[in-house]
This record gives sequence, structure tokens and C-alpha cells, in this order.
Amino acid sequence: MGSYRVAPAPGLAGEVTVPGDKSISHRAVMFGAIARGTTRVTGFLEGEDCLSTMRAVRELGVRVERPGPGEVIVHGVGLRGLGAPAGTLDMGNAGTAMRLFMGLLAAQPFDSVLVGDESLMRRPMERAATPLRAMGARIATTDGRPPVRITGGAPLQGIRYEMPVASAQVKSAVLLAGLYAAGETTVVEPAVTRDHTERMLQGFGCEVRARNGVVTVVPPAELHAADVAVPGDISSAAFFLVAACIGAREPFTIRNVGVNPTRTGILEMLALMGADLRLINHRSCGAEPVADIEVRPARLRGVRVPERLVPLAIDEFPAFFVAAACAEGETLVTGAEELRVKESDRIASMARGLEALGVRHEVRPDGLRIEGGPLRGGTIDSRGDHRVAMAFAVASLRADGPIEILDTANVATSFPGFAALAGSVGLRIEERA
Ligand code: S3P
Repeated sequence: MGSYRVAPAPGLAGEVTVPGDKSISHRAVMFGAIARGTTRVTGFLEGEDCLSTMRAVRELGVRVERPGPGEVIVHGVGLRGLGAPAGTLDMGNAGTAMRLFMGLLAAQPFDSVLVGDESLMRRPMERAATPLRAMGARIATTDGRPPVRITGGAPLQGIRYEMPVASAQVKSAVLLAGLYAAGETTVVEPAVTRDHTERMLQGFGCEVRARNGVVTVVPPAELHAADVAVPGDISSAAFFLVAACIGAREPFTIRNVGVNPTRTGILEMLALMGADLRLINHRSCGAEPVADIEVRPARLRGVRVPERLVPLAIDEFPAFFVAAACAEGETLVTGAEELRVKESDRIASMARGLEALGVRHEVRPDGLRIEGGPLRGGTIDSRGDHRVAMAFAVASLRADGPIEILDTANVATSFPGFAALAGSVGLRIEERA
């Protein structure tokens, strides 16, 4: 389970480099597994989620080496080289792993069964199963949730799929199945979502056309292995962005952050609040843009978040709600009902935590209205949600008493070493086993 006790801290100072991007790390191992040749990954996120993906590709017969920290070598077996797993495939806490594997495994000649931890077993899987069935896949969920049972050997047909929800995981599942389908597969997005799958497939030599929210994959004869350098995860950087906005004593720098425009909603949202953020040292990390981010302390003002930014910041709302609690005036988030089906119901878990800290707020079906004001100490149950736990650790920069955060072990799914790193720049986190 684990817990944090976070004492009020006088402020944040220094700089950090955050661990590798979770979305890109999953994809590097998965796509490397089905490519021809050897894929060398650097900056790989050694969090539990991506390790679940690594374990699963090994169970499918792929040799994976870990020569050093953040380094992974995947010996790809080619599009048709995967072998049947000996048992069920356990995706742990990782929704991305489960949904992307649904697409990949639907196209294999063997059967597979996907399970996960308590949180993942409650999450909706029909959103990926429905379009895969339309392609010809034989795939069954359990009342819409895992276990997901896939019967292999079904020939797949390319489709044009208009996605009802803006989900990069569903888009990616369909595109992965599309690699094996007869004819082209097209996904139409209702709003822009992260495009790491498209970029990486192109880097592996696959023809992917993407324009105005319409993405088409042309089934290749093979994918060709390519090295992947994984940038720092902006979703992990978000905790330090907010921490620096509300608690930095001097300019604070976060280095080597992936700033793919499909992920930078949090930067726009904080800028709307009056945050002073500067992107410097722009460069490319393979197919992905990267920069360092300098944050200067600023007074934040409450805002109404434009709904178009929601999918571009979908994982950053726990951190953002803490920024809103520390801002002057009211912040309103709407159009964010997807937060209810993340690792926890993040509208409910964040509302409960804000309540414990004395922050006035109103829960909406699709978001939250938060009144900024003083924060007190209190006890918060993260409900095993890594991002909820880290968000409330950051709140300690403004709280007038200690914050106890329960059920923090899952922080290691996305951000191993968070407590130590946050402690090194001024947070007063005591980690308990
Ligand atoms: C992810 C997509 C998002 C995000 C998740 C990672 C991905 O989920 O919340 O953490 O890597 O494709 P949805 O596609 O369900 O929005």
C-alpha cells in the first residue's frame, strides 16, 4: 500500500529531469517486438506499467535485454513472429498496455486472455473491442471489462472508424490491428489525441497518413526496427510545473520534457492562469519534440478551461486541480467526463482530497468547479491512483499543516523515485512502506 506524510515546505528550488514518457515507452517495446531487427530504446520509463508491457512481449516469445538504466534492447520477431503465451497476460495497472495489446493480439493466430490489477479490472474495454470486432476480431470482454478474451486466427478487414470518444488508446488499438488487416484502416478522431503511435509507426517504416483528425494506416509487409530515444514525460513534469508555479522561490527548470503539441494542454492551461513558463533549448528526440521548461513564480488566477484542451491535458488534471485550488478566484473544468474512467474516478478522488484540505468546490458530471483559497493539512486516500497521490504531495507547498496521503505504492507505475526527486528540490516527503 505505502503512504506519504508531506509536511508544509518553505518552497521549491533547483531543477529536475523527469523519467521517460510512459506512452512512448510502451509503444517502443511493443512496436520493437513486432519489427524486424533490433530496437534499442534509451530513456525508457522503468515504471511498473511499462514493465508490464515488457513482461507481456517476453511471454509472447520476444527476447528483451536491459543492459543499463533506461536502456532496453528488443529483438524484434517481425509482424508474424509472435508466439502463443503460456498463460494469461497480466497488464497490472496499465490501461495503455491492455488496450494496445487488444489491437495487436486480435490479429494473431493464437488465443490470449488479458487481465490486470483491481483498478484495471474495473475499466471499460468495449471502447476498444467494438471497432476491433467490426474489423472481424473475435474478442470478448466481461460485462465490458477485463478479463478480455481474444480468439486468434480471425482474418481482419480494414475499416473506417469514427471514434465516439477522443482516445489515443482506442485509436492505437485499431491502427495496430490495421497493420494486419486486408486494406487500409482509418480512424476519425472527434478531437486531437496524442499521436505517438503514428509518429513511431512512421519511424518504423510504415505508411501512416494523418490530417485533420483522420488517420490512415497502410498495412506494411514488415515494420523495420529503429532506435527510440524516449523524452521526459510531460505528465510527470506536470507535478513540478504546478509545484514551481505555486511554490518556487526562484526560476525552476524541468529538463528534457517531451513537448509534442498533442500533449501540451497543461502548458496552455497554466499560461491562461497567468503562469510564467518559458520553453528553451528546443530540439528533437527522434520523432518527438523536446524542450527544457523554465517556470518563474507567478500569481495564478482562476480560469474557465476551454474544452478543446481537455484531451491534450487528460492526465494532468489532478495536478491542474491543485493549481486551481491555489489560484485566486474560480476555475471551471467541463467536458472532462473521461476523468471518471482513469486509474480511479479522478473527479471523485480529487474532489474528496480537496474536501479534506478545506478547498471549496462543486462536483459536476463532467468536471469540477474549484474556488481557490487557503489549504489546510489533512488525510487523503489516493485510491491507488498514482497521479492523485503526486498531486496532493505538491499541494503541501501551500498547506498550513501536514498532508497524509494513503495508498501511494502505485506512484511507481509512472514515476519511480518521485518522492526522492521531489524531496531533492524542497518537498518534505516522508515515504512509509
Ligand atoms: C494514453 C492515452 C490516454 C491517457 C493514458 C495514456 C496512451 O488514455 O490517459 O494515460 O498512451 O495512448 P485514453 O486514450 O483512454 O484517453
